[in-house]
Amino acid sequence: MRYFSKGNMGPNLNLIVAVCENMGIGFKGELPWKLKSEMAYFSKMTKGTKDPSKKNAVIMGRKTWESIPKKFKPLPDRINVVLSTNKIEVAEGVLLCSSLEGAVAQLRQPPFNSVIETVWVIGGSSLYKASMDLPECHRLYLTHIKAMFECDTFFPTISPSFKVVSDPNVPQEVQEENGIKYEYKVYEKETSQN
Ligand SMILES: NC(=O)c1ccc[n+]([C@@H]2O[C@H](COP(=O)([O-])OP(=O)(O)OC[C@H]3O[C@@H](n4cnc5c(N)ncnc54)[C@H](OP(=O)(O)O)[C@@H]3O)[C@@H](O)[C@H]2O)c1
Repeated sequence: MRYFSKGNMGPNLNLIVAVCENMGIGFKGELPWKLKSEMAYFSKMTKGTKDPSKKNAVIMGRKTWESIPKKFKPLPDRINVVLSTNKIEVAEGVLLCSSLEGAVAQLRQPPFNSVIETVWVIGGSSLYKASMDLPECHRLYLTHIKAMFECDTFFPTISPSFKVVSDPNVPQEVQEENGIKYEYKVYEKETSQN
């Protein structure tokens, strides 16, 4: 068994999510909590590239797209991709795709493949599950919120093939905001190579 980076096979595909103690991620179409610094971490991680000439893409489900306030979307400095089985209205410049595999394939082709460094899956539930199963899936950036919130949307079970790793860009110490403690964790999908 070896670990390897898929960097040489096109952009990495990572997931980023914040979960509370019951693995909840959402309630009534919104985030169940208000954590400004955690949101800033999300922006920093999904915008950041090693190569300053490149950009990242964010892929999200239609409900997650709808959950973002109008003034904040499309998410700036990132290629926004929205998944829906319907021809919904999205802002100019936003890619609308009807399947996750189709979206990933499109981003790995010209003109996107030469400008995209990382593809970030940013929710929701079914998209997280489907993307963890994709061979392109590399890492899961998960914020563990050490509190319980009422939720109606949950993060799927994390397969044991995801192992905790460290990332120098991710703070290791426990964070605290509005009296709520949380911790950033990074998991990498173990892949066997023969
Ligand atoms: N805590 C976090 O980090 C976090 C992150 C993201 C979202 N959230 C929260 O999670 C909730 C939204 O997530 P959700 O799971 O309910 O919905 P979602 O995944 O954002 O959206 C579901 C919709 O996306 C489309 N879709 C999903 N997978 C697709 C696929 N493979 N192919 C084509 N279309 C696909 C479908 O749209 P159509 O019905 O139009 O076909 C589906 O009904 C909100 O409460 C939000 O605030 C939390």
